[in-house]
Amino acid sequence: MARLEAACDVDRIDASGPVTHDELVRRVAGKQALLSMVTDTIDRAVIEAGQDLRIIANAAVGYNNIDVAAARERGIIVTNTPDVLTDATADLTLALILAVTRRLGEGERMVRRGDWKGWAFDQLLGMQLRGRQLGIVGFGRIGRAVAERAAAFGMTIAHTSRSAAGLPLDRLLSTSDIVSLHVPLTPETRHLIGQPELARMKRSAYLINTTRGPVVDEAALAWALKNRLIAGAALDVYEREPEVHPDLLPFENVVLAPHLGSATTETRTAMADLAAANAIAVLDGKPPLTPVP
Ligand code: DGY
Repeated sequence: MARLEAACDVDRIDASGPVTHDELVRRVAGKQALLSMVTDTIDRAVIEAGQDLRIIANAAVGYNNIDVAAARERGIIVTNTPDVLTDATADLTLALILAVTRRLGEGERMVRRGDWKGWAFDQLLGMQLRGRQLGIVGFGRIGRAVAERAAAFGMTIAHTSRSAAGLPLDRLLSTSDIVSLHVPLTPETRHLIGQPELARMKRSAYLINTTRGPVVDEAALAWALKNRLIAGAALDVYEREPEVHPDLLPFENVVLAPHLGSATTETRTAMADLAAANAIAVLDGKPPLTPVP
Protein backbone atom coordinates (compact mmCIF):
# COMPACT_ATOMS: atom_id res chain seq x y z
CA MET A 1 0.00 0.00 0.00
CA ALA A 2 2.81 2.42 0.85
CA ARG A 3 4.44 1.85 -2.52
CA LEU A 4 1.16 2.28 -4.35
CA GLU A 5 0.19 5.37 -2.40
CA ALA A 6 3.56 6.96 -3.18
CA ALA A 7 2.99 6.33 -6.89
CA CYS A 8 -0.71 6.98 -7.47
CA ASP A 9 -4.12 7.70 -5.94
CA VAL A 10 -5.47 4.53 -4.40
CA ASP A 11 -9.11 3.60 -3.93
CA ARG A 12 -8.80 0.79 -1.43
CA ILE A 13 -11.73 -1.54 -1.05
CA ASP A 14 -11.70 -2.62 2.57
CA ALA A 15 -13.94 -5.62 2.67
CA SER A 16 -13.96 -8.18 5.42
CA GLY A 17 -14.65 -10.85 2.81
CA PRO A 18 -14.36 -10.96 -0.97
CA VAL A 19 -15.67 -7.81 -2.61
CA THR A 20 -19.00 -8.19 -4.39
CA HIS A 21 -19.20 -8.19 -8.16
CA ASP A 22 -21.50 -5.13 -8.17
CA GLU A 23 -19.09 -3.18 -6.04
CA LEU A 24 -16.17 -4.10 -8.28
CA VAL A 25 -18.10 -2.98 -11.36
CA ARG A 26 -18.92 0.31 -9.66
CA ARG A 27 -15.48 1.03 -8.24
CA VAL A 28 -13.41 0.05 -11.29
CA ALA A 29 -14.92 2.85 -13.38
CA GLY A 30 -12.37 5.59 -14.00
CA LYS A 31 -9.40 3.56 -12.68
CA GLN A 32 -6.25 2.91 -14.72
CA ALA A 33 -5.05 -0.06 -12.69
CA LEU A 34 -6.80 -2.82 -10.80
CA LEU A 35 -4.93 -4.87 -8.19
CA SER A 36 -6.96 -8.01 -7.64
CA MET A 37 -6.99 -11.09 -5.40
CA VAL A 38 -7.83 -14.68 -6.36
CA THR A 39 -11.24 -14.21 -4.76
CA ASP A 40 -12.15 -11.34 -7.13
CA THR A 41 -13.95 -12.40 -10.30
CA ILE A 42 -12.67 -10.09 -12.99
CA ASP A 43 -15.05 -11.02 -15.77
CA ARG A 44 -16.11 -9.22 -18.95
CA ALA A 45 -18.58 -7.02 -17.02
CA VAL A 46 -15.86 -5.73 -14.70
CA ILE A 47 -13.44 -5.26 -17.59
CA GLU A 48 -16.03 -3.36 -19.63
CA ALA A 49 -16.83 -1.15 -16.66
CA GLY A 50 -13.12 -0.36 -16.40
CA GLN A 51 -12.99 1.73 -19.56
CA ASP A 52 -9.70 3.35 -18.53
CA LEU A 53 -7.95 0.23 -17.27
CA ARG A 54 -4.40 -0.34 -18.49
CA ILE A 55 -3.44 -3.18 -16.17
CA ILE A 56 -5.01 -5.86 -14.01
CA ALA A 57 -2.34 -6.95 -11.52
CA ASN A 58 -3.42 -10.17 -9.84
CA ALA A 59 -1.77 -10.84 -6.48
CA ALA A 60 -1.57 -14.57 -7.20
CA VAL A 61 0.20 -16.88 -9.60
CA GLY A 62 -3.10 -18.39 -10.77
CA TYR A 63 -5.26 -16.08 -12.85
CA ASN A 64 -8.32 -18.20 -13.61
CA ASN A 65 -10.34 -15.49 -11.82
CA ILE A 66 -9.65 -13.10 -14.72
CA ASP A 67 -11.14 -13.17 -18.22
CA VAL A 68 -7.77 -12.69 -19.87
CA ALA A 69 -9.23 -12.81 -23.40
CA ALA A 70 -11.67 -9.98 -22.60
CA ALA A 71 -8.81 -7.95 -21.11
CA ARG A 72 -6.62 -8.53 -24.17
CA GLU A 73 -9.42 -7.44 -26.51
CA ARG A 74 -9.31 -4.08 -24.78
CA GLY A 75 -5.51 -3.91 -24.72
CA ILE A 76 -5.37 -4.33 -20.94
CA ILE A 77 -2.23 -6.00 -19.59
CA VAL A 78 -2.75 -8.83 -17.09
CA THR A 79 0.02 -9.75 -14.65
CA ASN A 80 0.43 -12.42 -11.96
CA THR A 81 2.99 -13.21 -9.26
CA PRO A 82 5.02 -16.24 -10.35
CA ASP A 83 8.23 -17.48 -8.64
CA VAL A 84 7.79 -15.63 -5.34
CA LEU A 85 5.33 -18.22 -4.04
CA THR A 86 6.96 -21.37 -5.38
CA ASP A 87 8.75 -22.33 -2.16
CA ALA A 88 5.81 -21.59 0.14
CA THR A 89 3.41 -23.63 -1.99
CA ALA A 90 5.85 -26.52 -2.36
CA ASP A 91 6.44 -26.49 1.41
CA LEU A 92 2.71 -26.66 2.07
CA THR A 93 2.39 -29.54 -0.39
CA LEU A 94 4.94 -31.51 1.62
CA ALA A 95 3.14 -30.55 4.84
CA LEU A 96 -0.08 -32.00 3.41
CA ILE A 97 1.67 -35.14 2.15
CA LEU A 98 3.12 -35.73 5.60
CA ALA A 99 -0.13 -34.84 7.36
CA VAL A 100 -2.25 -37.28 5.39
CA THR A 101 0.23 -40.17 5.21
CA ARG A 102 1.09 -39.89 8.94
CA ARG A 103 -2.55 -39.34 9.99
CA LEU A 104 -1.76 -36.09 11.77
CA GLY A 105 -5.25 -34.59 11.53
CA GLU A 106 -6.78 -37.75 12.88
CA GLY A 107 -4.26 -37.86 15.74
CA GLU A 108 -4.73 -34.19 16.58
CA ARG A 109 -8.49 -34.59 16.74
CA MET A 110 -8.12 -37.62 18.99
CA VAL A 111 -5.85 -35.74 21.43
CA ARG A 112 -8.14 -32.66 21.52
CA ARG A 113 -11.22 -34.83 22.13
CA GLY A 114 -9.46 -36.36 25.12
CA ASP A 115 -9.66 -39.80 23.51
CA TRP A 116 -5.93 -40.52 23.57
CA LYS A 117 -5.28 -43.30 26.06
CA GLY A 118 -1.50 -43.25 25.64
CA TRP A 119 1.20 -44.63 23.38
CA ALA A 120 0.37 -47.90 21.66
CA PHE A 121 2.53 -49.99 19.37
CA ASP A 122 0.00 -50.16 16.55
CA GLN A 123 -1.68 -46.78 16.99
CA LEU A 124 -2.43 -44.63 13.91
CA LEU A 125 0.10 -46.36 11.69
CA GLY A 126 0.78 -44.40 8.53
CA MET A 127 2.77 -44.76 5.33
CA GLN A 128 6.50 -44.08 5.11
CA LEU A 129 7.64 -41.93 2.19
CA ARG A 130 11.07 -43.46 1.40
CA GLY A 131 10.89 -45.60 -1.72
CA ARG A 132 7.37 -44.46 -2.62
CA GLN A 133 6.53 -42.91 -5.96
CA LEU A 134 5.27 -39.35 -6.02
CA GLY A 135 3.33 -38.61 -9.21
CA ILE A 136 3.37 -34.91 -10.03
CA VAL A 137 0.67 -33.75 -12.41
CA GLY A 138 1.98 -30.54 -13.98
CA PHE A 139 5.74 -30.15 -13.88
CA GLY A 140 6.10 -26.39 -13.81
CA ARG A 141 7.81 -24.25 -11.19
CA ILE A 142 5.82 -25.55 -8.21
CA GLY A 143 5.73 -29.17 -9.38
CA ARG A 144 9.52 -29.15 -9.71
CA ALA A 145 9.98 -27.56 -6.29
CA VAL A 146 7.79 -30.30 -4.80
CA ALA A 147 9.90 -32.94 -6.59
CA GLU A 148 13.09 -31.47 -5.12
CA ARG A 149 11.68 -31.66 -1.59
CA ALA A 150 10.19 -35.13 -2.05
CA ALA A 151 13.56 -36.44 -3.26
CA ALA A 152 15.02 -35.43 0.11
CA PHE A 153 12.46 -37.76 1.73
CA GLY A 154 13.70 -40.63 -0.44
CA MET A 155 10.74 -40.64 -2.81
CA THR A 156 11.02 -41.47 -6.49
CA ILE A 157 9.38 -38.96 -8.81
CA ALA A 158 7.14 -39.43 -11.81
CA HIS A 159 5.55 -36.53 -13.62
CA THR A 160 3.30 -35.67 -16.49
CA SER A 161 4.63 -33.15 -18.93
CA ARG A 162 3.90 -31.80 -22.34
CA SER A 163 7.29 -33.11 -23.50
CA ALA A 164 8.16 -36.75 -24.14
CA ALA A 165 10.01 -36.91 -20.81
CA GLY A 166 6.83 -37.26 -18.77
CA LEU A 167 4.43 -40.14 -18.11
CA PRO A 168 0.92 -40.18 -19.58
CA LEU A 169 -1.61 -39.27 -16.86
CA ASP A 170 -3.17 -42.76 -16.85
CA ARG A 171 0.15 -44.42 -16.17
CA LEU A 172 1.13 -41.88 -13.54
CA LEU A 173 -2.16 -42.46 -11.73
CA SER A 174 -1.91 -46.23 -11.76
CA THR A 175 1.70 -46.39 -10.55
CA SER A 176 2.00 -43.58 -7.97
CA ASP A 177 1.67 -43.87 -4.20
CA ILE A 178 0.91 -40.17 -3.91
CA VAL A 179 -0.52 -38.01 -6.70
CA SER A 180 0.00 -34.25 -6.33
CA LEU A 181 -1.71 -31.76 -8.64
CA HIS A 182 0.15 -28.70 -9.96
CA VAL A 183 -1.59 -27.80 -13.21
CA PRO A 184 -3.25 -24.39 -13.57
CA LEU A 185 -7.05 -24.30 -13.81
CA THR A 186 -8.07 -23.99 -17.47
CA PRO A 187 -11.05 -25.36 -19.41
CA GLU A 188 -8.86 -28.43 -20.18
CA THR A 189 -7.93 -29.15 -16.55
CA ARG A 190 -11.39 -28.60 -14.98
CA HIS A 191 -12.33 -31.97 -13.41
CA LEU A 192 -9.09 -33.48 -14.71
CA ILE A 193 -9.44 -35.83 -11.74
CA GLY A 194 -12.89 -37.43 -11.76
CA GLN A 195 -14.30 -40.92 -11.22
CA PRO A 196 -12.32 -42.69 -13.98
CA GLU A 197 -9.04 -41.15 -12.87
CA LEU A 198 -9.63 -41.89 -9.17
CA ALA A 199 -10.58 -45.46 -10.03
CA ARG A 200 -7.25 -45.80 -11.83
CA MET A 201 -5.24 -44.88 -8.72
CA LYS A 202 -3.86 -47.54 -6.35
CA ARG A 203 -6.17 -48.31 -3.43
CA SER A 204 -3.23 -47.47 -1.16
CA ALA A 205 -2.58 -44.07 -2.82
CA TYR A 206 -3.22 -40.52 -1.66
CA LEU A 207 -4.38 -37.49 -3.66
CA ILE A 208 -3.01 -34.01 -2.86
CA ASN A 209 -4.46 -30.80 -4.32
CA THR A 210 -2.80 -27.43 -3.75
CA THR A 211 -3.58 -25.88 -7.15
CA ARG A 212 -7.24 -25.02 -7.80
CA GLY A 213 -10.30 -26.82 -6.45
CA PRO A 214 -12.14 -27.41 -9.75
CA VAL A 215 -9.23 -29.53 -11.06
CA VAL A 216 -10.79 -32.26 -8.87
CA ASP A 217 -14.41 -33.34 -9.08
CA GLU A 218 -15.13 -33.24 -5.34
CA ALA A 219 -18.25 -35.41 -5.58
CA ALA A 220 -16.17 -38.04 -7.39
CA LEU A 221 -13.50 -37.77 -4.72
CA ALA A 222 -16.08 -38.40 -1.97
CA TRP A 223 -17.32 -41.40 -3.99
CA ALA A 224 -13.79 -42.80 -4.30
CA LEU A 225 -13.15 -42.37 -0.57
CA LYS A 226 -16.47 -43.97 0.33
CA ASN A 227 -15.67 -46.96 -1.87
CA ARG A 228 -12.11 -47.12 -0.51
CA LEU A 229 -10.65 -46.71 -3.99
CA ILE A 230 -7.89 -44.52 -2.56
CA ALA A 231 -6.31 -44.33 0.90
CA GLY A 232 -6.89 -40.64 1.54
CA ALA A 233 -6.63 -37.07 0.30
CA ALA A 234 -5.25 -33.73 1.40
CA LEU A 235 -6.79 -30.59 -0.03
CA ASP A 236 -5.87 -26.91 0.24
CA VAL A 237 -8.32 -25.74 -2.42
CA TYR A 238 -11.98 -26.43 -3.19
CA GLU A 239 -14.44 -26.27 -6.03
CA ARG A 240 -16.62 -23.60 -4.40
CA GLU A 241 -14.43 -21.91 -1.79
CA PRO A 242 -14.99 -21.40 1.05
CA GLU A 243 -17.52 -24.25 0.85
CA VAL A 244 -16.22 -27.78 1.15
CA HIS A 245 -18.25 -30.60 -0.36
CA PRO A 246 -20.20 -31.85 2.69
CA ASP A 247 -19.51 -35.49 1.80
CA LEU A 248 -15.79 -34.91 2.34
CA LEU A 249 -16.14 -33.62 5.89
CA PRO A 250 -16.73 -36.91 7.76
CA PHE A 251 -13.61 -38.69 6.44
CA GLU A 252 -10.81 -39.07 9.00
CA ASN A 253 -8.39 -39.81 6.14
CA VAL A 254 -8.91 -36.40 4.49
CA VAL A 255 -6.85 -33.37 5.49
CA LEU A 256 -8.59 -30.06 4.77
CA ALA A 257 -6.59 -26.81 4.77
CA PRO A 258 -8.09 -23.36 4.09
CA HIS A 259 -6.16 -22.33 0.90
CA LEU A 260 -2.86 -21.69 2.66
CA GLY A 261 -0.44 -22.51 -0.19
CA SER A 262 1.29 -19.14 -0.34
CA ALA A 263 0.38 -18.02 3.17
CA THR A 264 3.70 -17.10 4.74
CA THR A 265 4.52 -13.56 5.78
CA GLU A 266 7.56 -13.52 3.46
CA THR A 267 5.65 -14.81 0.46
CA ARG A 268 2.55 -12.68 0.85
CA THR A 269 4.82 -9.62 1.23
CA ALA A 270 6.69 -10.56 -1.94
CA MET A 271 3.40 -11.17 -3.80
CA ALA A 272 2.04 -7.78 -2.72
CA ASP A 273 5.30 -6.06 -3.73
CA LEU A 274 5.32 -7.72 -7.14
CA ALA A 275 1.66 -6.94 -7.86
CA ALA A 276 2.25 -3.30 -6.85
CA ALA A 277 5.45 -3.10 -8.93
CA ASN A 278 3.57 -4.41 -11.97
CA ALA A 279 0.80 -1.82 -11.56
CA ILE A 280 3.26 1.03 -11.02
CA ALA A 281 5.42 0.02 -14.00
CA VAL A 282 2.47 0.04 -16.39
CA LEU A 283 1.09 3.30 -15.00
CA ASP A 284 4.59 4.78 -15.59
CA GLY A 285 4.49 3.61 -19.22
CA LYS A 286 7.04 0.85 -18.60
CA PRO A 287 6.67 -2.84 -19.47
CA PRO A 288 5.13 -5.04 -16.76
CA LEU A 289 7.52 -7.28 -14.81
CA THR A 290 5.47 -10.48 -14.97
CA PRO A 291 2.78 -10.44 -17.67
CA VAL A 292 0.74 -13.63 -17.94
CA PRO A 293 1.74 -15.73 -20.95
C1 DGY B 1 -2.12 -18.28 -6.10
O1 DGY B 1 -1.18 -17.47 -6.07
O2 DGY B 1 -2.60 -18.64 -7.17
C2 DGY B 1 -2.62 -18.77 -4.80
O3 DGY B 1 -3.59 -19.72 -4.92
C3 DGY B 1 -3.12 -17.62 -3.96
O4 DGY B 1 -2.43 -17.67 -2.80
